[in-house]
Amino acid sequence: MGKVFVNIGLSLDGYMAPEGMDLENWERPEYKNWGAKWGALMGWVLKQQYFRENLKFGPGGETGPVNDMLRHTMERAGANIMGKRMFDQGERSWPEEAPFHAPVYVLTHEKRDPWVRPGGTTFHFINDGPAGALERARESAGGRDIRISGGADVIQQYLSMGAIDELEIALAPVLFGSGRRLFENLHEPVPQFRIDKVLNTPDATHLRYVRA
Ligand SMILES: NC(=O)c1ccc[n+]([C@@H]2O[C@H](COP(=O)([O-])OP(=O)(O)OC[C@H]3O[C@@H](n4cnc5c(N)ncnc54)[C@H](OP(=O)(O)O)[C@@H]3O)[C@@H](O)[C@H]2O)c1
Repeated sequence: MGKVFVNIGLSLDGYMAPEGMDLENWERPEYKNWGAKWGALMGWVLKQQYFRENLKFGPGGETGPVNDMLRHTMERAGANIMGKRMFDQGERSWPEEAPFHAPVYVLTHEKRDPWVRPGGTTFHFINDGPAGALERARESAGGRDIRISGGADVIQQYLSMGAIDELEIALAPVLFGSGRRLFENLHEPVPQFRIDKVLNTPDATHLRYVRA
């Protein structure tokens, strides 16, 4: 059976997204720093050759161990699960060929028909909770791994269920002060992890934990 994994960027003070992260808030003075904060969090990924290729940003970009890791992360996922807020942002910013190339199960209260994109990504809108979404993801992944893509709300639910086998965090040296915190709302017994691998770079420390 495939592994269930998370691979995300995290600020030094534990946030997955800065407060007010929404295109509608771009001009609002109280949230004017969200773009800069997001850039500081994800700067490492934006420069990778694989990321540029996958998001159709054009040629160029860094190659090396971080690029290899990124490619492996995207290619190992036979299915993805995400929350509606992450989807809503992506729907407005992913290219027509969305970058997953596999089924994506969106946890939501909204009823909506599947959204088929060119290149193998189909978004399915799931209304019966995280266990149902995981079951469907397993069926379609055919033994490959399942990525819990985010955001924080959805990852917290799978952590609380004890369903996450591997937790990969790119810890960026930036403080947000507020935003979407990753480690909260967890239910007992909280899952336990051990360190499996650390890859240090000037932009981020890539931490890989596996279930203890
Ligand atoms: N740092 C990173 O690597 C990374 C990765 C991914 C995302 N992000 C960021 O994280 C932010 C979004 O995270 P978030 O925690 O705010 O939201 P989220 O997890 O993306 O989505 C939460 C929403 O999903 C729906 N949902 C979740 N669980 C559900 C359930 N069990 N049943 C039915 N619906 C359910 C609900 O929306 P409805 O009630 O409206 O349906 C809920 O409000 C975005 O800013 C995104 O850019 C960061």
